[in-house]
Amino acid sequence: MKIVTGNRFGSKKGLFIIGFFEEEKNYSQPFKELGKEIEEKVKAKIFAKTFGETYSTVVRGNKVIVLGFGKKQDLHLEKVRRLFGKTISLTKAAKMESVSTSLVENLAKAKNFDQKRLGQAVAEGLILSNYTFDKYLSKERKNKQKSVQNVYLQFSGTKKFQEGLKIGTIIAEATNFARDLVEEPASVANSSYLEKVAAKIASANPKISLNVLNKAELKQLGMNALLGVNAGSENPPKLLVLEYKGGSGKPIAFVGKGITFDSGGYNLKPTKYIEEMKDDMSGAAAVISTIKAAAELKINKHLLGIVPLCENMVSGSAQKPGDIVKAYNGKTIEIGNTDAEGRLILADALAYTENKYKPEIIIDLATLTGACVIALGYYAAGLIGKDEKLLDALKKAGDDSGDRVWPLPFYEEYQDWMDGSISDLNNLSTKGKGYEAGSITAAVFLSKFVDKSKWAHLDLSGAYWPMGSDYFDKGATGSGTRIMLYYLLNN
Ligand code: BES
Ligand code: ZN
Ligand code: ZN
Repeated sequence: MKIVTGNRFGSKKGLFIIGFFEEEKNYSQPFKELGKEIEEKVKAKIFAKTFGETYSTVVRGNKVIVLGFGKKQDLHLEKVRRLFGKTISLTKAAKMESVSTSLVENLAKAKNFDQKRLGQAVAEGLILSNYTFDKYLSKERKNKQKSVQNVYLQFSGTKKFQEGLKIGTIIAEATNFARDLVEEPASVANSSYLEKVAAKIASANPKISLNVLNKAELKQLGMNALLGVNAGSENPPKLLVLEYKGGSGKPIAFVGKGITFDSGGYNLKPTKYIEEMKDDMSGAAAVISTIKAAAELKINKHLLGIVPLCENMVSGSAQKPGDIVKAYNGKTIEIGNTDAEGRLILADALAYTENKYKPEIIIDLATLTGACVIALGYYAAGLIGKDEKLLDALKKAGDDSGDRVWPLPFYEEYQDWMDGSISDLNNLSTKGKGYEAGSITAAVFLSKFVDKSKWAHLDLSGAYWPMGSDYFDKGATGSGTRIMLYYLLNN
């Protein structure tokens, strides 16, 4: 999609999308002819200009859609994203490939937005909502669901706005890159496939390097928690280390859960739960795309993208409930439930990351618990940790980016809930029925594998796949990418 700034209305034929706030009374811009008509519709209460409401009409043979902005005081950047998401879905619904819109100009008048952030939000709303995963569709089907080719913004804005558009484009495209990885079937996007994706990213940028630990090295290093999860799989386990040297000093490490398929293992997932489990590498996808985009944004920080890759399958060689494994840091873990596999591969990845790279900060991203979907639903990831400053920065990055997180309590009372009886730890909580506060106890388990670094955990279980929104169709959202990039840009 091309986003073109600075064009003028009137010269082109096609679809126009314009919009007004509830407080506005004069509708003669940008189309003089429409002033009276809209005024009448508003008076007759046919069009109240509430947020996202639409009124369609025709001017000089061109279709015009008028969007309601709601109240000026309620406007914020996430609403800007949503309005541009609507712009794309309305354009698609009108079966048009191009659209001209005066939205930015009008929106910018209402609030003293940071021009750069405004540009970001515009590009993000447009590019995220124009996404389709159509590589497996026939030509006929593809043609029916065409994406939008050109958006004429009718607005130039400041240099900062233009810069914002560029940044937002990189962020949104990185998010879409993660969505592609998540949508790809598990039989395609296995550990070797994701290794190739990472290798391509590393070879495209001299500041990025890739180191891959294969099965023999993982064995030698004693990453038995990770190896245990992969024991039933035909695909090899791997640990990818993407390093981006945009700056010096201690790195910030992103660790992403990369379960390429989660059958649950012998604690097999039932129908209605197993179908989406190709997505259990959403954390990994977010980490890979974050490193890619951080380099494109020339972020001057030293970053690590750590991606443990495994497949949780059943077979004669698979791990069994009751097995005990010794993790990289020497702690023993009883397998209380083979479906609680994410924390096992993260345990080794976290301990290895800390020991080998001594990062200042570790942030892990994982589709870790169904409990998080129950607690928060689909429109925020769970956020857990002990470092208040880091948690606050992540909460802010989530709000700024629209890729939101919500804090869960990490009370003292929970800290021994993962202690084992015949092993140091159990991967299933040993208190109550094992499932209470499931997202919190999972994080308690992870915390036993981080000693010195500041650490925060994001549970993406609901956020990676919401039920659709103004700028996400149903399907993968690439959750984790935007918040991490905003976090890096903010700090
Ligand atoms: N990958 C799942 C969590 C998940 C569930 C992600 C739904 C996205 C949507 C994870 O490996 C898992 O199965 N967790 C178990 C843990 C339990 C056995 C303690 C769960 O949530 O049921
Ligand atoms: Zn599982
Ligand atoms: Zn899982």
